[in-house]
Amino acid sequence: MTSTLATATQRADELHAILHEHAHRYYVLDEPSIPDAEYDKLFQELQAIEAAYPELARADSPTQRVVGQVLEGFATVHHAVPMLSIRTETDITAAGAQAFDTRVRRELGLAETDPPVAYCAELKFDGLALNLRYEHGVLVQAATRGDGEKGEDVTSNIRTIRQIPLKLRGAAPPVLEVRGEVYMKRADFEAYNERQRALIAAGAKNEKTVVNPRNAAAGAVRQLDPHQSRKRPLSFFAYGLGEVQGWDVPATHSGLLDALAAMGFPVAKQRAVSLGADGLVAFHEAMGAARDQLPYDIDGVVYKVDSRELQARLGFVSREPRWAVAHKYPAQEQVTTLLDIDVQVGRIGTLTPVAKLQPVFVGGTTVSNATLHNEDEIRRKDIRIGDTVIVRRAGDVIPQVVGPVLERRTPDVAALAPFELFTHIGGKCPACGSPIERREGEVAWRCTGGVTCPAQVKQAILHFASRRAVEIEGLGDEIVEQLVDMGIVRTLPELYKLGFAKLNELERMGEKSARKLVDAIERSKATTLPRFLFGLGIRHVGETTAKDLARHFGDIDKLVKASVEQLLEVPDVGPIVANSVFEFFQQERHKTIVDLLMAAGITWPAIEGTASDAHRPLLGKTLVITGTLPTLSRDDARELIEAAGGKVSGSVSKKTNWLVAGEEAGSKLDKARELGIEILDEAGLQALLAAPADVVDAAADDAAPAA
Ligand code: IVH
Repeated sequence: MTSTLATATQRADELHAILHEHAHRYYVLDEPSIPDAEYDKLFQELQAIEAAYPELARADSPTQRVVGQVLEGFATVHHAVPMLSIRTETDITAAGAQAFDTRVRRELGLAETDPPVAYCAELKFDGLALNLRYEHGVLVQAATRGDGEKGEDVTSNIRTIRQIPLKLRGAAPPVLEVRGEVYMKRADFEAYNERQRALIAAGAKNEKTVVNPRNAAAGAVRQLDPHQSRKRPLSFFAYGLGEVQGWDVPATHSGLLDALAAMGFPVAKQRAVSLGADGLVAFHEAMGAARDQLPYDIDGVVYKVDSRELQARLGFVSREPRWAVAHKYPAQEQVTTLLDIDVQVGRIGTLTPVAKLQPVFVGGTTVSNATLHNEDEIRRKDIRIGDTVIVRRAGDVIPQVVGPVLERRTPDVAALAPFELFTHIGGKCPACGSPIERREGEVAWRCTGGVTCPAQVKQAILHFASRRAVEIEGLGDEIVEQLVDMGIVRTLPELYKLGFAKLNELERMGEKSARKLVDAIERSKATTLPRFLFGLGIRHVGETTAKDLARHFGDIDKLVKASVEQLLEVPDVGPIVANSVFEFFQQERHKTIVDLLMAAGITWPAIEGTASDAHRPLLGKTLVITGTLPTLSRDDARELIEAAGGKVSGSVSKKTNWLVAGEEAGSKLDKARELGIEILDEAGLQALLAAPADVVDAAADDAAPAA
């Protein structure tokens, strides 16, 4: 018995130390070294020990208080009403919602025959809790949660968040504290990291990438320099109240959320009122399915008893209300082992390191491969084969290796030299054995094998056949893999020599699919010059640039022969693109590929507008498309506008000539109205496309903003 107590005491001490350390990293430094799920596991282990041996539950145990310290540099704010946390339902299956309802009913002393309790279900945002204090309708203070009693005054940083109203709409009670979550959208997080990587690649010393949107948001909120903070776009959702004076708080939580939305706060529209547990289960399931499509991370849903009166009756246990519970989803970050680093060869020979992982269930699927970006990134994070690593998979973003868990690095791994891509693959392309090179100023190593490298040929074919290039329906990874590996197709143009017999030889290729593919290949021959150019896979030539080049040169011969100076004359083409195009066509093998493709019968209609009589009424005009049009897809509308000589821009500015707006148009429509830009519907756009150029010009002058 004593020995079991002794073991438990020892483990509890260990867990105290570990949890305190991680809590410090998480809350104070914003640099956690283990994922939340791992922390939760350790935390629950300690809770279990303390439940079995109550004498071990010391006052300073991490289970007994909410951690978080005030950073030097921010003023301390004493919360007028403590900021609580929510109990987490550990059962992540539907039964979790049932268990909550059962508990609530028991605590309210309800009998089975009593009517169901109404709940409000909402999302559990993965960000940072904030308390916003409004006095007479004006934002006077923003504070972090801190330890729940006192937080940090982060008003100046929070003021830069556009979603947070500085002044309330409508009612202006003497005191109103609104609580909610500040977070970063996944796209903003990816863009931020992308920019950081570019800065680091360019030699910037003090720049870092961030591991996940939550940390990015926390870092921005607690950044001492609000100008730095402003560079990280943050968002906000309101979900509760702090101190209130002189306001009649709605009787239900759902009513409160509506009232907050009316005051100008962003409130997630994913929320539902449910009678009893069934609706909660449905909400949990629906949001679980929608999770990947949301533009931000959620780690679960929250259920709250809707009636404030019942909430008051239920009250609190320690620091958690009995009337709310968090029901989680599988974690989007997990730890696993990095078994190896594979090097994959891309379309233009770019060598990309890919992590081979001990399969791990993360973000709802089993992940065994994850991107490592490039060699510099691996070295900067000091990721080594054999390391325990954190893997993140959220939304439809490809899984990433966030970094190593250094505490778990074994001595063998610590003795390894930092990762070097060149030595890792013996200086040779893993697909064709050609030497590899890394040019000055570039982050990626590349295979020098060109068309002799089967991996490059495969990627080149897949790209050429893709939907946005010449589009060969049914030509997927597996078929291309076989065609190249079996030596049936050795270069891109050979694709057009494929007949039914050859295709029918392939594994898992029936007669019907073989015929279909022959037809699809045949059909792809009739294409457009921009699609063909894009399909060639010239570095830095995306769809837009391909269109610009096609429009300017009109035919492929002129483009192939163009000098850098001539290329620079193309609108929107700068030195990087010009050099890349020039270098591409300097290579004899690329010219041969173009010749062979054309000899195979690839054709496109002459480019309008390079001929003098073309109908290009929108030349020199810029349009923006927003919302859903009744019949045209956005891509269709764009193509029509571009074919008429116009440009389609992604944002509204003074230079915009027209905004084409459909259903559910949002901020762009507001902006256009603000700037006095003329707004067209689909019919209006069609009229413009059909009109003679001088009519369009006159219309554009009329449409110009008064200023
Ligand atoms: S309500 C009394 N609602 O989760 C309940 N919290 O552990 C107070 N959170 O600190 C919180 N989404 O940072 C509430 N819809 C939501 C939430 C939410 C995320 C966070 C918040 C809080 C933590 C609770």
